[in-house]
Amino acid sequence: MSLPWYQKTSIYQIYPRSFRDSNGDGIGDLQGILQKLDYIRDLGFETIWVSPFFASPQADFGYDISDYTAIAPEYGSMADALQLIEETHRRGMKIVFDMVMNHTSSEHAWFKESRSSRDNPKANWYIWRDKPNNWNSLPGGSGWHYAPERSQYYWASFLPFQPDLNYRNPEVKATMLNVVRFWFSQGVDGFRLDIFNAIYKDESFRDNPFTFQFLPTEEDPSGFFQEVKYSLNQPESFEFAREFRNVCDEFGARLSVGEVSGSRTTIRKFLGGTQNDGLTLVFDFAMLNFDFTADYFRRLLLDIEAAYPAPAFAPVYVFSNHDRRRSMSRLNGDIRKAKLLHLLQLTVRGVPCMYYGEELGMTDLPQPFASALDPVARKFKFLSRFVPDLLGLTINRDEVRTPMQWDATPNAGFSSAPKTWLPVNGNYPDVNVERQDRDSRSLLNTIRALNKLRNAEPSLREGALEILDGLPANLLGYVRKFQSEKVIVLLNFDEREKDVRLASSNCLFKLSPGDEIKTEAIHLDGFGGMIVK
Ligand code: GLC
Repeated sequence: MSLPWYQKTSIYQIYPRSFRDSNGDGIGDLQGILQKLDYIRDLGFETIWVSPFFASPQADFGYDISDYTAIAPEYGSMADALQLIEETHRRGMKIVFDMVMNHTSSEHAWFKESRSSRDNPKANWYIWRDKPNNWNSLPGGSGWHYAPERSQYYWASFLPFQPDLNYRNPEVKATMLNVVRFWFSQGVDGFRLDIFNAIYKDESFRDNPFTFQFLPTEEDPSGFFQEVKYSLNQPESFEFAREFRNVCDEFGARLSVGEVSGSRTTIRKFLGGTQNDGLTLVFDFAMLNFDFTADYFRRLLLDIEAAYPAPAFAPVYVFSNHDRRRSMSRLNGDIRKAKLLHLLQLTVRGVPCMYYGEELGMTDLPQPFASALDPVARKFKFLSRFVPDLLGLTINRDEVRTPMQWDATPNAGFSSAPKTWLPVNGNYPDVNVERQDRDSRSLLNTIRALNKLRNAEPSLREGALEILDGLPANLLGYVRKFQSEKVIVLLNFDEREKDVRLASSNCLFKLSPGDEIKTEAIHLDGFGGMIVK
């Protein structure tokens, strides 16, 4: 039995503002993505996910939408969006849009009307209360904001200019699901679902309990001394995942990938029951904070296999995105480690999701909070860098959103404008597509080769995964099996070379020049890796 496409696909995330600027205004756009579609196809990814490009005041760079079926002029037009869908399909690829269902922009006509009085037709489209309860917003501080027009407070899970829609109002739910249907009927293959676990909140607005936890984590979003018991991950949101799935199913096999902060048990609830009748995929963000050891990844694979068992469930392997540190920065710029990390990401069971520029080993560009464009960084501009740096937190998301580095010409070939919306990382003369293209051992060519193999080998694309026991310390190995086919992946997380007693004669891929098959053993360089049959 073969898996549905969305459980064996591979995803490349594009942050459109930073990918490619086609009209020289310093901001990336849809025509820019169109110019680079062949690049993504040749890189070997099947699905592209594009962060929001809908009409928006851009206070949170598109995660604040003011019209769900219009395109922000700086990114292009509806014709460009439809052309992007068509051209992606023409290359045999899929395209996923980013759906921000939880909240709109405060500039959305719906919110303007809703806040204007207590008895207008949209009065009940958002979450209004006479008095705030104790709930904090996700970035911290009360999420209740006063609107003098109504002498009431509205709720915003994220920032004050992102008021939450009221899904207990059937009109709101129907309207938003029709937006989803609209894009499906234009040919979109699926959606990434922004803070999907915030959609429903406790119906009676009970106060959240106290906790000693100060900093939220990926697995436990409680923080700032408050357990998020009633403001996130409510049973009605799990149910809504099923309703969302039903809408997807009206259009055939469509992908949905949820952004959920919470434990694996919570994530499973969003994926639905034993047959996966909820969202088709949910990111597993705990692994964004990986330790670079064989023990960590062995444990991770065991936990993931238990939490998302085959064949009904497919995990998403994600090591960076537009909100969190780039993996190369976590790895202190060690290219050998980056290659090994991606060897793992592209050969484990599930869906790899790679953020643009990771294929080059682009790094974060530290920038002062005070001059940040990111509204989260501006909220924390009083903080010295020291604390977040020490804790490895990304407060200023500008740092991970710098323009894609295409070549060594000015602005890294991203734009012809005198000034780009965010500065280009100064390492671009060394770290760019054009240069790595010419180097057969570059990270870019390593990822191309791995994707090529993944696309050709059903065992890598959809086979079961079994961990190999009894390997030397700091070495990780697993078998991928599909029908009568099987391949073995070996990864050396040690600086020192290793020999593994394993008989094999057929090397499909090697990471490091010294990796080789010897009689009755496989030799791996420090941070080497191999795929054998
Ligand atoms: C999600 C997005 C983030 C955005 C926030 C509010 O976490 O990934 O970029 O700021 O939701 O929509």
